[in-house]
Amino acid sequence: MRLQGKVAIITGGGAGIGRACVELFAREGARVVIAELDAANGQATRDAVSAKGGDCIFVATDVSEPESVKAVVDAAVERYGRLDILYNNAGGSTLSDGPVTKAPFEEFWRKMKVDLFGTWLGCHYAIPRMIEGGGGSIVNASSIYGLTGTPNRDAYTAAKGAITALTRSMAVEYARDNIRVNAVAAAGTTTERVLARIKENAISQKVRDAHLLGFVDPTDVAHAVLYLASDESRTTTGHILAVDSGYTSGRG
Ligand SMILES: NC(=O)c1ccc[n+]([C@@H]2O[C@H](COP(=O)([O-])OP(=O)(O)OC[C@H]3O[C@@H](n4cnc5c(N)ncnc54)[C@H](O)[C@@H]3O)[C@@H](O)[C@H]2O)c1
Repeated sequence: MRLQGKVAIITGGGAGIGRACVELFAREGARVVIAELDAANGQATRDAVSAKGGDCIFVATDVSEPESVKAVVDAAVERYGRLDILYNNAGGSTLSDGPVTKAPFEEFWRKMKVDLFGTWLGCHYAIPRMIEGGGGSIVNASSIYGLTGTPNRDAYTAAKGAITALTRSMAVEYARDNIRVNAVAAAGTTTERVLARIKENAISQKVRDAHLLGFVDPTDVAHAVLYLASDESRTTTGHILAVDSGYTSGRG
């Protein structure tokens, strides 16, 4: 019960890494708010966790809309009385991305709106509520693409690189309020979206080989987030934890 008594919001908690994290946090005693755009997935995750005795609610949320993010933060505090943890997870890379000379402008703004602004908004509304409760822990979703030069994903790398920088600056800004801000930088993680690409053979042998221990499982990322969210990491802030199967060390 590493999160006993804590209240956590997990954005994009209805699928993939976010869902793995909702399930793990609930097992570890947290009361969890699933902030998810896809209502069917959000409700299904809530129902599955509740059936196993977990305490969680689903709040339909679009992380790129200020009113929506404010509403889910308010809902968390109204329901559970406090807010301790925010995992800004919603987002992800898409096939419509590409090199800066080719990627559609809409793709750039989509990444900025969902991945980066979504993270910004979560922090904007959550931090004052965490301060009211005496502090908290924020975990942001960066990526190995935010740490390395990676071709053909320039909108995504721009957003994840910015999240990495924002994580460090917020860590310095809010340490005085006992708020820690860290990020996880996962390599290729076998969510449904990525599994489909693996099955289609759409991932090159070079990229496969760069994952020295094989692809990452969503639960591997969830365990890293759990550590950063819990008091076990109470003196860790501004850190980017690579859950990368050796990708950033072994490449090239
Ligand atoms: N899967 C990977 O290989 C990988 C690797 C590195 C980093 N990441 C990062 O991890 C995070 C989760 O990735 P994933 O692979 O689990 O994605 P996923 O597509 O499996 O799940 C993302 C979830 O976010 C939700 N979502 C999308 N837009 C939203 C919005 N505007 N508001 C609220 N919810 C929204 C989706 O409905 C979905 O449930 C992303 O930030 C991604 O960039 C993933």
